[in-house]
Amino acid sequence: MIFQNFILEHIWNLKPYSSARDEFKGKEGVFLDANENPMGSGVPKKWNRYPDPLQLTIKEQLAAIKQCNVDQIFLGNGSDEAIDLIMRMTCQSGIHNIILCPPTYGMYEVSASINHIEQRKVSLLTNYQLDVAGILEAIDSNTRLLFICSPNNPTGNKLNRTDIYTLIESFTTGFVIIDEAYIDFSDEPSFIQELVKYPQLIVMQTLSKAYGLASLRLGMAFAHPTIIGLLNKIKPPYNIGGATQEIVIKALANTSFKEDTVSLLLAERKRLMESLGQIPEVIHIYPSDANFILVRFKKSNELFNYLISEKLITRNRSTVTLCEDSIRITIGLSEENDKLVDLISKFYAA
Ligand SMILES: Cc1ncc(COP(=O)(O)O)c(C=O)c1O
Repeated sequence: MIFQNFILEHIWNLKPYSSARDEFKGKEGVFLDANENPMGSGVPKKWNRYPDPLQLTIKEQLAAIKQCNVDQIFLGNGSDEAIDLIMRMTCQSGIHNIILCPPTYGMYEVSASINHIEQRKVSLLTNYQLDVAGILEAIDSNTRLLFICSPNNPTGNKLNRTDIYTLIESFTTGFVIIDEAYIDFSDEPSFIQELVKYPQLIVMQTLSKAYGLASLRLGMAFAHPTIIGLLNKIKPPYNIGGATQEIVIKALANTSFKEDTVSLLLAERKRLMESLGQIPEVIHIYPSDANFILVRFKKSNELFNYLISEKLITRNRSTVTLCEDSIRITIGLSEENDKLVDLISKFYAA
């Protein structure tokens, strides 16, 4: 197995916890095996039984939607759980390192710091594309993970596909993780279909964005079945609650919601970009493949504070590498976007 070498030995050899629901999978019977409460739950609906530890029904739905196999899917308590587990599976503090390409999603760095893993940062180029040569230079024999976020947060752009292929082909001594949290808002195809060709690839997605389920916490990692098996071994046994599983199953069956969301938000993204483009104090609107845009403004800090004082909350990214004077704006409903444009115009008119 080519990637056995990228997995910590004690994880590879780990004998996982075997839960009551692992040992008996039937749904009928008198259950006196899991120390649950036989009385119910103190609310009308019964939540007293432990949920399916491997969330099979959801994975069957996702396999059909994403055109992959059930054994290529891991589900986490948000993508953030998958990020943490992948680090704990591959990296030993003091020995291994990971490559990050800022500005990017902050949890890669936080998760690596919690796990005390060395981070090698190779900034994006000024056009927000990958510095392929810089990344290849930063990689050494102890590099276990390369995080690529496409479309990228907070810049919003997709990363050049050919650069990503170059990196996957060149970095063969660790895992390339492609975080596709915003892929539903992009015309770019997912890398899930490339998993068969590249066993050292891990693709992450989430139901927090286009599916509108951020509060339920459901993140996905797609990878070679052996990697999925390892992640399942090290996750907490019941990491996805029963209420989340039940609602996700219903939400995934509602195919039109996600499609309607994406078409509305893409239309609103275009409209908002056009409106902001009319404001002279807008220095630059970066291209977006996501449900947000990064915009460079004159007096960005003052504008950000003014918007907060008007109870309109955006994300100030001015202190982030390569994002000077920039504010990240999530695409809202039509009236919310109109309110934003009105307030920005008022701020500059004052
Ligand atoms: C790039 C990226 N990945 C992952 C996440 C987190 O997703 P989840 O809600 O599934 O933890 C976010 C959240 O904003 C994100 O921007």
